[in-house]
Amino acid sequence: MTRGNGYVLPKVMGHRGAAKRAPENTLGGLRRAAELGATWVEIDVMLTADNVPILHHDYNFGRTCAHPADVATVSSTAVAQLDAGAWFPAEASSRSWAGEVVPTLEQAVAALRELGLGLNLELKPTPGRAVETAEVALDLLIRIWPPELPRPLISSFTRACLDVALNIAPRMPRGRLWEILPDDWQSDAATLECVSVHLWRETLTHAQTRAIKAAGYELAVFTVNDLEEAERFLEWGVDCIITDLPDIILPGTYSAAA
Ligand code: G3P
Ligand code: MG
Repeated sequence: MTRGNGYVLPKVMGHRGAAKRAPENTLGGLRRAAELGATWVEIDVMLTADNVPILHHDYNFGRTCAHPADVATVSSTAVAQLDAGAWFPAEASSRSWAGEVVPTLEQAVAALRELGLGLNLELKPTPGRAVETAEVALDLLIRIWPPELPRPLISSFTRACLDVALNIAPRMPRGRLWEILPDDWQSDAATLECVSVHLWRETLTHAQTRAIKAAGYELAVFTVNDLEEAERFLEWGVDCIITDLPDIILPGTYSAAA
């Protein structure tokens, strides 16, 4: 039994682009992921104060933009002035990434189209904004997603986001994210009509892998940056490795120096 009418996850997906090779959730990071051989990327989306969907992971801009303000309080005009690349350690890629912006989801989709990359969009709402984050991001994605690319996979830790996704974008496949698989995972994933389950590398067990696969779901594990560990998960039957280092997990596809 499979859940997604043949919807298949890639074996490797670049996490936040290629988060240990280029600044996470940036357009440069998407480009780097493609250069390193990734065919799909996972990115996080949340809303600015004026409801523009942007690529960002934390609830605050402090860590990656040297701007200690909560995302939900900053306007899109102010976000566009932020530098999302200067913080990235130069030794991780032998170049400076200063000048990378915090992209809008719209800019990111244009880049994915140019690069031919598949997308796992993680709905990552700031506290209290689950419903509008899903509504705004998916309304945009429905309008602008390039038909030549595979249908994007919509995932979230936040159930309310996936409820909205099921209602307004039922044709976009859904993935349920958990750090720890809950006892009621089967009913939760089935109610949301998910095609995939995404679990944390620190908690996923071989027995859980067997159960999730037997129930017909695609299974992704995050975030795996070690090749031996990735191979062990693949041997268990995990379908997709989400990694900050696609060049390590996709041996043989990486030729250019970083
Ligand atoms: O979607 C997989 C992974 O990105 C979930 O964790 O915190 O890196 O967004 P996080
Ligand atoms: Mg994420």
